[in-house]
Amino acid sequence: MATQEQLDAKKQKKDEFYTQYEDIQKEINTYIEYNPDVFKNKTILLPCDDPEWSNFTRFFAQNFHNLGLKKLISTSYAADSKPSEIPYQLTLFETESDEYDENKTRSYGKIFTLTRDKNNSGKIDIDDLEWHYLKGDGDFRSNEIKKLRDEADVIVTNPPFSLFRQFIAWVLEADKKFLIIGNQNAVAYKDVFPYIQKNEIWYGPSISSGDRKFGVPGNYPLDAAGCGIDENGMRFIRVKGVRWFTNIDHGRRHQLLSLMTMQDNLKYSKHKELRDKEYRTFFNYDAINIPFTDAIPKDYNGMMGVPITFLDKYCPEQFEIIGLGIANLGLEIGVKPYTPEHQQYRKDIQHKGAVDGDLYMLDDAGHPDVPYARIIIKKRG
Ligand SMILES: C[S@@+](CC[C@H](N)C(=O)[O-])C[C@H]1O[C@@H](n2cnc3c(N)ncnc32)[C@H](O)[C@@H]1O
Repeated sequence: MATQEQLDAKKQKKDEFYTQYEDIQKEINTYIEYNPDVFKNKTILLPCDDPEWSNFTRFFAQNFHNLGLKKLISTSYAADSKPSEIPYQLTLFETESDEYDENKTRSYGKIFTLTRDKNNSGKIDIDDLEWHYLKGDGDFRSNEIKKLRDEADVIVTNPPFSLFRQFIAWVLEADKKFLIIGNQNAVAYKDVFPYIQKNEIWYGPSISSGDRKFGVPGNYPLDAAGCGIDENGMRFIRVKGVRWFTNIDHGRRHQLLSLMTMQDNLKYSKHKELRDKEYRTFFNYDAINIPFTDAIPKDYNGMMGVPITFLDKYCPEQFEIIGLGIANLGLEIGVKPYTPEHQQYRKDIQHKGAVDGDLYMLDDAGHPDVPYARIIIKKRG
């Protein structure tokens, strides 16, 4: 079994996944399509970045004028504060700059700002970025970076994986617009789901399935599935389950999901679990189980337990989210605890966890059948 140290190291490795330019561009374009002025006159903060080579800084700096930005701020985290196995990359950009200080380069974070046409080229762009060392290491939790957060209108980044919960809490406490990358399973965190339910956080539209490519440090082992070296010699890994999390409005979330009636689903569904069968009901909550989002019956007015991937298609005008049928969040909405016999069977015979608040059905033999996390929804109107 892996030790806690090994697990922490594994998590920290994922802290150094660098986002591709096209993924940032695709996502930002969807907000502009919906509201061309969405970033106009706004101060954008890119924390947890590596401004010298980050695609976030490059994208927003290159598009400063097109987006109509007021100010761009990007900050990095000091090399000495990162785990020791992360290689330290001193760039020519830094060493050739008047600001370069060999006593500070490893232990201080950096701040890059863009506000003016420094080089008088007639346009504010990436060549106008100005930088200096921060007073501290650039930890997003420090007062120095908190002040920048409070100054910003919009916060955009791919935060360190191991600190996702802390990062999202940090953004929410400042009540800012944000766009950040995370794993789709984060929706089920007890401190994230309530915001999804209240329609205060939702998924961004450009990633809803498959995997995405991320750059990794030069010494990253290429032994895991999906790793490789691209045509530019950059090491990368392909990561599944990635989503953008945001509170910036976009058009996809207002598109109604096109669905069949219950009768048609049972007759024509492409899923053998449903065709010529019926929707199963939960034993410990008054709802039907919907195994696939495209099998939600459009004429059913009761509660339905849908997979987490429903959120990729969720339109708040079409459905109301009632809760999440997992653990304490399940208990809060009235999911009944396991009966002693079902709990015992689950643990002793099925050798699985039996947490009260998890939704379950009964199979033909009367034994508990627990689906993967279900969100409880109800049709509006
Ligand atoms: C997932 S990477 C993303 C980098 C960049 N935003 C991108 O997508 O290309 C997260 C970055 O946050 C840095 N980081 C880790 N802990 C941090 C902290 N407490 N405060 C600020 N940055 C941190 C990591 O070293 C890494 O550079």
